Amino acid sequence: METRIAVLASGAGSNFKALVTGDTGSGKVDILLTDNENAGALKLAAELGVESKYLYPGKYRTRFGVREEELWAEYLLGRGVQLVCLAGLMRIIKGPLLDAFKGRMMNIHPSLLPAFPGLDAQGQAFEYGVKIAGCTVHYVDGGTDTGPIILQESVPVFESDQRDSLAARILMKEHEIYSKAVKAHLEGRAVYSRIVR
Ligand code: GRF
Repeated sequence: METRIAVLASGAGSNFKALVTGDTGSGKVDILLTDNENAGALKLAAELGVESKYLYPGKYRTRFGVREEELWAEYLLGRGVQLVCLAGLMRIIKGPLLDAFKGRMMNIHPSLLPAFPGLDAQGQAFEYGVKIAGCTVHYVDGGTDTGPIILQESVPVFESDQRDSLAARILMKEHEIYSKAVKAHLEGRAVYSRIVR
């Protein structure tokens, strides 16, 4: 049976596209939801033939209002969404929306967590001078880029790199691992409290 996936994105949406076009096993991206009426992801959704919707996130800048989290949760549950994938959503989720999807909400982050959580992880890693960078898919637990790790991949940092060339290499790897992580979850190889290897 097909599993309905919602992708929540605020920006360009390249990870959203990777989830639509990648192998997610029994998962199917049913809808793109955004908190940003100008998100590039909306244009991509139209090109990919995926339904998309802007929903008001509330008056705060980096989190949802509690009532808005309730409304987002109601919307997703009403559509029969079973898995929520955050892909560049620029807000913390920690209220009713997380409660509705705990263990069924994942996020992708452009660093080898727990190193470099938060904004511009690629820039943080580059400035720190790491020799190996990477990306992580993890379950969402209410913190900033915390929660049980599902999948990680590393990428090398070259002498010739700048922040942007490193970020581009990480992004390509992100596109590979997100659908793999979703597939692992849907096949029961990853669960919220216990990762089966
Ligand atoms: C990605 O680097 C992702 O890891 C981070 O935000 C960025 C979103 O990029 N959470 P895109 O919108 O998927 O292209």
